[in-house]
Amino acid sequence: MVTGGSGFIGTHTCLELINAGVNVSIIDNFSNSVGESLERIERLSGKKVSFYEVDIRNKNSLQEVFKASDFSAVIHFAGLKAVGESVSYPVRYYQNNVLGTLNLLDVMSQYNVRKLVFSSSATVYGDPETLPIKEFFPRSATNPYGQSKLMVEHILEDLAKADPEWKIACLRYFNPVGAHSSGMIGEDPQDIPNNLMPYISQVAVGKREKLSIFGNDYPTVDGTGVRDYIHVTDLAKGHLAALNYLYSEQAESFSPFNLGRGQGISVLQLVNAFEKASGRKIPYEVVNRRPGDIAACYADAQRAKQLLGWKAHLGVEDMCKDAWRWQEMNPTGYK
Ligand code: WQD
Repeated sequence: MVTGGSGFIGTHTCLELINAGVNVSIIDNFSNSVGESLERIERLSGKKVSFYEVDIRNKNSLQEVFKASDFSAVIHFAGLKAVGESVSYPVRYYQNNVLGTLNLLDVMSQYNVRKLVFSSSATVYGDPETLPIKEFFPRSATNPYGQSKLMVEHILEDLAKADPEWKIACLRYFNPVGAHSSGMIGEDPQDIPNNLMPYISQVAVGKREKLSIFGNDYPTVDGTGVRDYIHVTDLAKGHLAALNYLYSEQAESFSPFNLGRGQGISVLQLVNAFEKASGRKIPYEVVNRRPGDIAACYADAQRAKQLLGWKAHLGVEDMCKDAWRWQEMNPTGYK
């Protein structure tokens, strides 16, 4: 069962799961995605996908789905993820991300499903003292979105301690970008993109006039923010590796993993790479820093390599080429 399976990372993960022979069911409430993305997965994989339009805040409808099925594990993507929006609407974020997860855990226990891959985020590390970031680094939150992810991590840790029957992989994503190489599925923000890569690709396709670069006075290589960008297909494969790990003898009851490339790329470096990959100029203007942004963040992904046998292979050129192909083939996204 994949919650939030019609979203950006969800669709790419479902495709990898289906291609690996996993029997996948999806639930989604389409709050940040559209049904067309599921049609695309079926076309790409040649397989039918069972889908339920369900909101995880509605526990009864979750129960109905589990009652009618025989799931062995859950990959949990469903949740809200816009930092700025979470500051304006904190209760909505706690209801979706925390209450929704509590509902899911309850129903999973009820139906004896105790293998869970949880979609967490590097945002739980706050502003790290040193780099690269390791899984045991201190965690903190500076906004309700990050707080909701941190709360769920603590809930999962306590659950795993209380009942070691649970096998939980907690995947902390760095910056997922790019699209499947077919250009058939990709990132489709329902509004003005908050994140850098979709904004750049909308400028390249002429949907946005210019990019605003949020500050160039950070203590980094060129003054702009540095992040660990990871291709969404590498990230999707990380979920398959985490799922396999949960079925293995050495699976711990709660296990965090950084899913990143371990390399920092600045905003300007990404803009240049995208211009090369797309052949399009990306006009930009340097404006003030965005409140809450940190200067630099990138992963130490050794633990995932050692325990999951997973590492990212695709580089910035692939990320930009694949993001551009998706955007050029789908100038208005899935609509
Ligand atoms: C990347 C860099 C910006 C947009 C966020 C969430 C995190 C996770 C991933 C969910 C920064 C700069 C951005 C723009 C810019 N989401 N930027 N102009 O902030 O690292 O992480 O998305 O889990 O929780 O916090 O990603 O893509 O927003 O920003 O200059 O229009 O690009 O300042 O340096 P971020 P981002």
